[in-house]
Amino acid sequence: MVEAPPGEPPAPREWVCRSEDLVERGKAVLFEVREFRHAVRAFVLRIDGQVVGYLNRCAHVPAEMDWVPGEFLDDSGRYILCAIHGAAYHPADGRCAGGPCGRGRLTALRVEETGGQVYWYPSRDIRPPAPAAESPP
Ligand code: FES
Repeated sequence: MVEAPPGEPPAPREWVCRSEDLVERGKAVLFEVREFRHAVRAFVLRIDGQVVGYLNRCAHVPAEMDWVPGEFLDDSGRYILCAIHGAAYHPADGRCAGGPCGRGRLTALRVEETGGQVYWYPSRDIRPPAPAAESPP
């Protein structure tokens, strides 16, 4: 879990999924967020019993990485793999493990698992998706 920066007041959290939706090194749960004003997809995975969350954006080229929606891990389940050029990331912390991501890393979200539910915490730059525009009466 990514901790809140020191001195930052507690932020409201956003529900993502039920704990049982995330099996160990299994399929991710995808959800929408907004980075600055842009809609971006994010995902949560269970790794070594812990829930981790990242933006679905490669550090090589800002593109989504899953080869099938929600499928991020390689065959061994050891690395998050970008389907485009094969960059590999350590799932526990998002650091580049090899390939064209170089010294980059995934953008982590602060996530929390409590009471059988998984939540993420918006930050200054990453917010919940914009509410759908209301249709005129
Ligand atoms: S876009 Fe991910 S490795 Fe190139």
